[in-house]
Amino acid sequence: MPQAPTFTTSRQEIAGVSVPSLAAEFGTPTYVYDAAKIVERINDLASFDVVRYAQKACSNLAILKLVREQGVMVDAVSAWEIRRALAAGFDKHGDPPPIVYTADIFDREALELCIEHGLHVNCGSPDMIRQLGEAAPGSEITLRINPGFGHGHSQKTNTGGQQSKHGIWHEQLGNCLLLADANNLSVTGLHMHIGSGTDLDHLSQVCDSMEKAALEVGRSIKTISAGGGLPIPYNSGQTYVDLDKYFELWDATRKRLEESFGHKISLEIEPGRYLAAEAGYLIAEIRAVKEMGTNLFYVGDAGFNNLARPIMYGAYHPISIARQDGQELEPSNEVIVGGPLCESGDIFTQEEGGFVSARKLPPATIGDLLVIECAGAYGYCMSSNYNSKPLAAEVLVEDGKARLIRRRQTFEGFIADEMI
Ligand code: LLP
Repeated sequence: MPQAPTFTTSRQEIAGVSVPSLAAEFGTPTYVYDAAKIVERINDLASFDVVRYAQKACSNLAILKLVREQGVMVDAVSAWEIRRALAAGFDKHGDPPPIVYTADIFDREALELCIEHGLHVNCGSPDMIRQLGEAAPGSEITLRINPGFGHGHSQKTNTGGQQSKHGIWHEQLGNCLLLADANNLSVTGLHMHIGSGTDLDHLSQVCDSMEKAALEVGRSIKTISAGGGLPIPYNSGQTYVDLDKYFELWDATRKRLEESFGHKISLEIEPGRYLAAEAGYLIAEIRAVKEMGTNLFYVGDAGFNNLARPIMYGAYHPISIARQDGQELEPSNEVIVGGPLCESGDIFTQEEGGFVSARKLPPATIGDLLVIECAGAYGYCMSSNYNSKPLAAEVLVEDGKARLIRRRQTFEGFIADEMI
């Protein structure tokens, strides 16, 4: 388990590359990812048989290729996530399946792709079982079970319980097994994901529900997936969950099932944030420093079009300053950090239920850089073109070298699909 980080308010480099030089070479706003950190996080999870990356967290092809080369498999939640996985070189078939389609519905394109490529499907609704049964009888499937409870870092990221639309309600498992049988599908896997960024207690409760569900399904089960949801520390003082303890609980569950069934059960985990969050930094240039009554604002060129988590969930992201003069000054200013959008909520320093809050940061001026940290997961992939702002560039740093992995969106690309 990694050491809990302490965040500072000055950062002159990312993975050995100077932040001002990154901004000078690639412009701002730009997402920068530290490849070594992703690999480190993958290795933390080595006890699990399969680490299946929830690519929704950060699906750049270069990142997908990087995790694939580390032996990680991938989850896809949409037709184009399937196509991304294929484009990044994941095989279609294998044991365990390299790509799993996990969703609550099949849109028509996703169903066609799953059939065309014979992909393994994790069904999150009885309707998916019916539709797959009609199109591809004889397939092996996983069922995503909603165990009746959930927990996330915010109500919006809680994916279990009666208020959640996700998965198959646990009390309907029996009916779904009959449905699978009637459609000539074999249930070989079970999956539960109760929410993103939750705590160890809630994560561990899933083990009991999984054991109960697996016993109900019986000997056809070959794989159980603990889902994702592993939290990461976003602020000094927060810690990681005890991964050893987490694994032990799952391993014990798996062993009991192996004893009951008399065969091996593969144990999967499906993290998104844990692999990508801390590796990613959003760099923005400060373009205005202004006072509003007693409040001081640093206004940069990245907004919630680039990183939506603060406005969506009141999520906290550490922010540090890279001054162009290289000085690392004391955090002596109380600052509100905002972006360029024509909307008052375009503030990075806000908290859940709150609107704006100030943060102690070093003095800075125009041209200095904001480094918004722990932004690798649900950062770029949730960005938009609001206010006709271009999508940011993405850069990967490997072995001290930075390379562009997605060029900044161009105006021509931005309007290419529009017709007058
Ligand atoms: N597996 C399934 C089926 C999921 O729905 C998710 C996340 C994951 C795995 C990965 O969860 P993670 O390990 O990253 O917590 N936009 C929100 C997070 C929404 C996640 C939705 N599902 C955020 O920025 O916090």
